[in-house]
Amino acid sequence: MNHSQFRALFPALGQRIWLDTPGAPPAALPVTAALTRALEDWSGGTFDWLHWDGAAARARELFADYLGVAPGTVATLGSLSEAAATVASTISVGEIVVAEDEFRSNLYPWMRLLGDDVRVRVVPRVAGLSRTDVLLDAIGPDTALVAVSEVITLDGERVDLPALRRATDDAGARLFVNVTQTLGVLDSRLDELAADYVAVHGYKWMLCPRGTAWLVVRPDRVADLRPLAPSWKSTGSPQGYFGGGYREASDASRCDTSPAWFSWVGAEAALSVLSELDRDLTQRHTLRLSARFREQATALGCRDANQGAASHIVAVDVPDGVRTAESLRRHGVVATVTGNRLRVGFHFFNNDDDLEVVVDAIRHAS
Ligand SMILES: Cc1ncc(COP(=O)(O)O)c(C=O)c1O
Repeated sequence: MNHSQFRALFPALGQRIWLDTPGAPPAALPVTAALTRALEDWSGGTFDWLHWDGAAARARELFADYLGVAPGTVATLGSLSEAAATVASTISVGEIVVAEDEFRSNLYPWMRLLGDDVRVRVVPRVAGLSRTDVLLDAIGPDTALVAVSEVITLDGERVDLPALRRATDDAGARLFVNVTQTLGVLDSRLDELAADYVAVHGYKWMLCPRGTAWLVVRPDRVADLRPLAPSWKSTGSPQGYFGGGYREASDASRCDTSPAWFSWVGAEAALSVLSELDRDLTQRHTLRLSARFREQATALGCRDANQGAASHIVAVDVPDGVRTAESLRRHGVVATVTGNRLRVGFHFFNNDDDLEVVVDAIRHAS
């Protein structure tokens, strides 16, 4: 699917310049069509709930195919924090290393770990050093696991995952990678990375409704995982409903949580769209737009918050007294402004015109 065909799937882009995919993107037509069908079937009583119930399993197959992993290494969950908490419960000894400014869904599940033999090392950020550098400095012989998001929206740094993999391998530690802000746009060669755990919530760059998250477990780690909330969904097939002895699936589906049906109906449709995109082209397109934005925004006096490698997300501090939010609204741009900080993110549907308008909005802010 080329850029124009992809862009045409988003009706909202006819009214707005959408640079807020780090928050959430507007819906793609195939996703709303699938959800509308489900609502109509629900309303008319013409639905088959077993078909809805099977959407998470069908989406697992599509997702596994998208990542090039075996479906049996993938659990379907409702959020990133559930994925992190599921992995956290497997650690009983050693030190967990995590940056102090991590997104809380990839920070709190580790922080609340209890046990005399587990410590959580919350690594302080150091001015002038990247997140990658402070994490690398913190890894040592006691490290059991490093938890990191490839990109967080605080600053848009793309952490150096291969460097973290080498360091964790040297220390005999595991690596948990959150790709919620990257999967769908950046081609991070996750197959070569061989992280122990990769987790993603699909409602951002993967175009899914909220409530659709995946945890991918390296095959040699599957046996360690235990469900946090075992249910009728954790047995694998055949699925039963009542009584019986405790049983868990032999693969990662034992960690599946009870699915929000409609979210997974939407996820199935979203994955069919996503799998049509050329990943290398998508990465080049989005990184080119974000690099041009950074260049032009800094030429207008904005300061880039990123101390490390660039990504498709840019966070800049605008000069004091400049009221960007109002100007963005006037220019029809949807982006997040928090205090002085403006955050934008580029999906494959964004184009050079979007870039020009947002730069104009900064230029004409007063
Ligand atoms: C880096 C990152 N991870 C995860 C999430 C979502 O976390 P959860 O699925 O626990 O709501 C977000 C939401 O903004 C995020 O920015």
